[in-house]
Amino acid sequence: MEASAMRSTPNLRIPGPTPVPQDILDAVAHPMVDHRGRPFAALIQRVTERLKDFYLTKQDVLILSASGTGGMEAAVANTLSPGDKVLVVSIGAFGDRFAAIADTYGAEVTSLPYEWGQAADPEDVRKALAENPDLKAVLVTHNETSTGVTNPLEPIAKVVREADRLLVVDAVSSLGAIPLDMDGWGLDVVVTGSQKGWMVPPGLAFVAMSERAWKANESASMPRFYFDLAKARDFLQKNQTPWTPAISVFFGLDLALEKMAAEGPESIHTRHANIGQMVREGVKALGLELLATDERYASNTVTAIRCPEGVEVSALRKMLEDDYNVVVAGGQARLSGKIFRFGHLGLVSEEDIRQALDALAQALPRVGYTIPVSR
Ligand SMILES: Cc1ncc(COP(=O)(O)O)c(C=O)c1O
Repeated sequence: MEASAMRSTPNLRIPGPTPVPQDILDAVAHPMVDHRGRPFAALIQRVTERLKDFYLTKQDVLILSASGTGGMEAAVANTLSPGDKVLVVSIGAFGDRFAAIADTYGAEVTSLPYEWGQAADPEDVRKALAENPDLKAVLVTHNETSTGVTNPLEPIAKVVREADRLLVVDAVSSLGAIPLDMDGWGLDVVVTGSQKGWMVPPGLAFVAMSERAWKANESASMPRFYFDLAKARDFLQKNQTPWTPAISVFFGLDLALEKMAAEGPESIHTRHANIGQMVREGVKALGLELLATDERYASNTVTAIRCPEGVEVSALRKMLEDDYNVVVAGGQARLSGKIFRFGHLGLVSEEDIRQALDALAQALPRVGYTIPVSR
């Protein structure tokens, strides 16, 4: 991917929104069209087909005008009824958000929480399912952006399939960048958002549902109107959306998916794996500690780094932005002030990472951290 076009703009190393290539920004500036006209219908058909190649599904991928949280809300409200019991596997802030959404809509939530920085253990999920035979669904985050940890989704899915429950997956910061096989792994609802691995501005959420999830949808009675996925599926038959969509973002998505299809999912995954490794090696070489307790589960789209003793995260972030044009994210919720996060998904090159790591190496001593000499 061409990243040099971004060099005059900040090196945006947050885990979304990600930098958007200039040609995609230009595509976003397309004049408005009739969203019920033939050219836009052809675009909807094209992007929907291409998204299936990344989801690895035969199901429709529905495109909602919303951020990722809207997609999570749609996933819950379209498959469950008030009073349904759900297990939420939470390894961080976005797992907790899934629980909050389910709770808000009247589900009875059982939590399987982990220390932030850890991945979930499929055997714990098996145990929780055995202990709670009336659970209807399991909600899980694939890649926990708040901690930089990727859950072992395939084995978790295997356990949930064996127990024959619905598996609802927040793949907001994974899909498109980290391998996920919706049909092959037996995932029932998979949600992602345009501003993450897709190199597109925020504004669209993608949701796909399995046959099992569509069956659940028939009797699911949680309230829904704008995010009624059955309605979205009906309109997709005509290559339309029920409501006026975020047309500009669709134009960006069309070009982004064309570029991503040309690069190919496997090569995109490999690129992210290599970049993830490069970031981890780079921060460890500075004597810094990853939040991910087991590196096998360290995320290839976002790295959470413990802030060294005596350094203020806010001072470090400010210096990186003001003096080096590098923007990194802070910690969320209980990790606020304790970590900083380095996004590396979507449009990201080794050069971007090198520049950000160099900036970090220069900024850290200026905010009170001595880089160990052994590096
Ligand atoms: C794992 C995960 N889930 C959900 C969301 C929420 O998405 P949004 O901010 O687009 O609503 C995010 C965004 O950072 C995320 O990383």
